[in-house]
Amino acid sequence: MRKEARKSAMPLLVLVLSCAAMLAGCANLPATTLYPYGDHATRILDLMTPVFWMAVGVFVVVQAALVYTVMRFRSRQVNAPVPTQVHGNTNIEIMWTIAPAIILLVISVLTFRTQAANSYQPPEAMKIRAISHQWWFEFQYDDGSIVTASDLYIPVGQSVQIQLEAADVMHNFWIPKLAGKTYMIPGKTNYLAFKANEAGIFRAFCAEFCGESHGNMRFRVIALDAAEFAKWKTNYATNPPTPSGTLQVIGLTGDAARGAAIFANAKKQCISCHIINGTEAKGKIGPNLTHYGSRQTIAAGVLPYSTENLAKWLHDPASVKPGNLMGRVIKKGMLSDQEIADLVAYLDGMKLAVNLPAEK
Ligand code: CUA
Repeated sequence: MRKEARKSAMPLLVLVLSCAAMLAGCANLPATTLYPYGDHATRILDLMTPVFWMAVGVFVVVQAALVYTVMRFRSRQVNAPVPTQVHGNTNIEIMWTIAPAIILLVISVLTFRTQAANSYQPPEAMKIRAISHQWWFEFQYDDGSIVTASDLYIPVGQSVQIQLEAADVMHNFWIPKLAGKTYMIPGKTNYLAFKANEAGIFRAFCAEFCGESHGNMRFRVIALDAAEFAKWKTNYATNPPTPSGTLQVIGLTGDAARGAAIFANAKKQCISCHIINGTEAKGKIGPNLTHYGSRQTIAAGVLPYSTENLAKWLHDPASVKPGNLMGRVIKKGMLSDQEIADLVAYLDGMKLAVNLPAEK
């Protein structure tokens, strides 16, 4: 009998141990909400923690009562008579009405407090406009005089206010370690204010299903110390010089000047969708590619930035990111390998010198 009991406890023990191992493994992953680096995310964790422990308390009390009842009142003999039937106990009913009411009241007070604090928009916050597209994020500073995509640069220790908009369908803006999810809705503007406490690169995501490549709609938040941020902004506002020189990629020698000519050639379609400040490229459909060589990722977080990955993207965008607009225009094989090498040399040549912080 004892052996049997030990046997049946085994799966439970395995489950508990594997859950513990999983939780330990979650420690400070790139997208965890349990290690906040900013005021907005900290307030959410400060709400989540007491609510979690209250739920644990309820779970333990209910399960203990259940187990006690099952053990204490189980049938001990075959053909036992039906036990005395009890219905209603005023004291217990009053207790189990009042106790949850108190718990819910505490949770709602904590929730309203967090909501009020997290929806406050400090007037001194630095304003940045974020526009979501299927499937990438655009960021505008200083009334649109600086436009970036996929990398959101912010200063450390200063509140930023993100003005959230959507160009096509509903998206959702989420930086797990810095700020909670906020909807981006076509025709309605939402505002999200937060502050990063430390320099770092933070993963961020679209958190609302928005079509085929929703899972490929990511961005990076790059929080820089105030001085470094100011330097980035000044440099970014300066038009990049036309790159020159060559670059070895996919076994070929790419030529930046030739790449610039290919990019500017209307027949190759690049300039119908993309802007590069200071050039003839003025297309507004796709991401602004000014200083493209400084990007952290390619295709809104699908591939880490590298010249090889950029060549892979230009070779066949549709296979890298299903459904994306560029894949409908630039089909596999439309650009020759030499043209791809030249374009990579050109795009990679536009790099800004930034002292990047570590990923958090
Ligand atoms: Cu945009 Cu999901």
